Amino acid sequence: MKTLITGGGGFIGSRLAAALRARDPGERIRLLDVAFPPGLEKAFECIAGDVSSPAVIASALGNDTDTVFHLAAVVSGGAEMDFDLGYRVNLDGTRALLEACRKLERPPRFVFASSVAAFGGVLPDVLDDGTTPAPQTSYGTQKVIGEYLVADFTRKGMIDGRSLRLPTVVVRPGEPNLAASSFASGIIREPLAGVPSDCPVPDTTGVWILSPRRVVAAFIHAVELASSAWPTTRVVNLPGITLTVREMIDAMGRVAGREAVERVTFKPDARIQGIVQTWPVRFRTDRALAMGFRADGDFESIVRDHLEGGRAA
Ligand SMILES: NC(=O)c1ccc[n+]([C@@H]2O[C@H](COP(=O)([O-])OP(=O)(O)OC[C@H]3O[C@@H](n4cnc5c(N)ncnc54)[C@H](O)[C@@H]3O)[C@@H](O)[C@H]2O)c1
Repeated sequence: MKTLITGGGGFIGSRLAAALRARDPGERIRLLDVAFPPGLEKAFECIAGDVSSPAVIASALGNDTDTVFHLAAVVSGGAEMDFDLGYRVNLDGTRALLEACRKLERPPRFVFASSVAAFGGVLPDVLDDGTTPAPQTSYGTQKVIGEYLVADFTRKGMIDGRSLRLPTVVVRPGEPNLAASSFASGIIREPLAGVPSDCPVPDTTGVWILSPRRVVAAFIHAVELASSAWPTTRVVNLPGITLTVREMIDAMGRVAGREAVERVTFKPDARIQGIVQTWPVRFRTDRALAMGFRADGDFESIVRDHLEGGRAA
């Protein structure tokens, strides 16, 4: 039994690897990424390379691979800035990985990290399991195409696929990244570390949120569920909680005090606002809840968890 995590050097992928290892110390876990943070290579078998290269994928998959978590991606702002790179990694990479999985002796369980960026355009106030994706970014478009590929390869019996539409995962530790949602973590992470933070969107902006702890638990739950538990689309909108930027900052203040709140200033950025405005904010996630996926209880716990070092699961 062997598990492959693409994007395994990234924020969620590396936490998922640690959580899988904690759950089953005997599980053989291989990570594929373009680069790895220090220390990871000691704990896991790490393959450095491009997920859109069939040769790299061939070196990462084997006939003993029974589980693939596909998280490697050029994130939203990056895919919007570099059209060709986004399509190469997010679409060609996904297709190449699926083609390689198809050639394995046994169809692996395949969990795909999609995003609520799948939705856009004119949206109802509250989205639900029947809302049709109409992405308004290249990233969202690439994610939706990935979901369809996962469903079709599953229908053909080539994989046992499952796609998760992730809310914005907050608080992301480390440096800001190119995701348009990077501010949602920055306005909490930086002030808590004593550093000022510029918020590029108005404080009335809503965000659909899931914590690092819960997103890792969701990936593990997704792979453990029986195939029959999934709809024919093989996609689920993960549960989350809705907060405005103001509510997030106020919750941080209740945990960490007024000084943290005062470190946030507002500096509008039209590019970021243009992307974030297309994303949905409120959902009914009946299907995911019935399947056993869970949201966080409140934002204060997410802030505390981050302060305590952000244990993954
Ligand atoms: N974090 C969020 O809020 C969020 C929300 C929705 C969806 N997602 C999705 O979840 C997944 C993981 O996100 P994350 O937050 O951990 O992002 P991340 O950027 O930390 O991780 C993605 C990883 O993919 C790797 N990667 C990029 N191009 C690659 C390539 N050509 N070949 C191999 N690896 C490559 C990156 O090096 C990175 O380590 C992504 O697919 C992302 O689109 C994340």
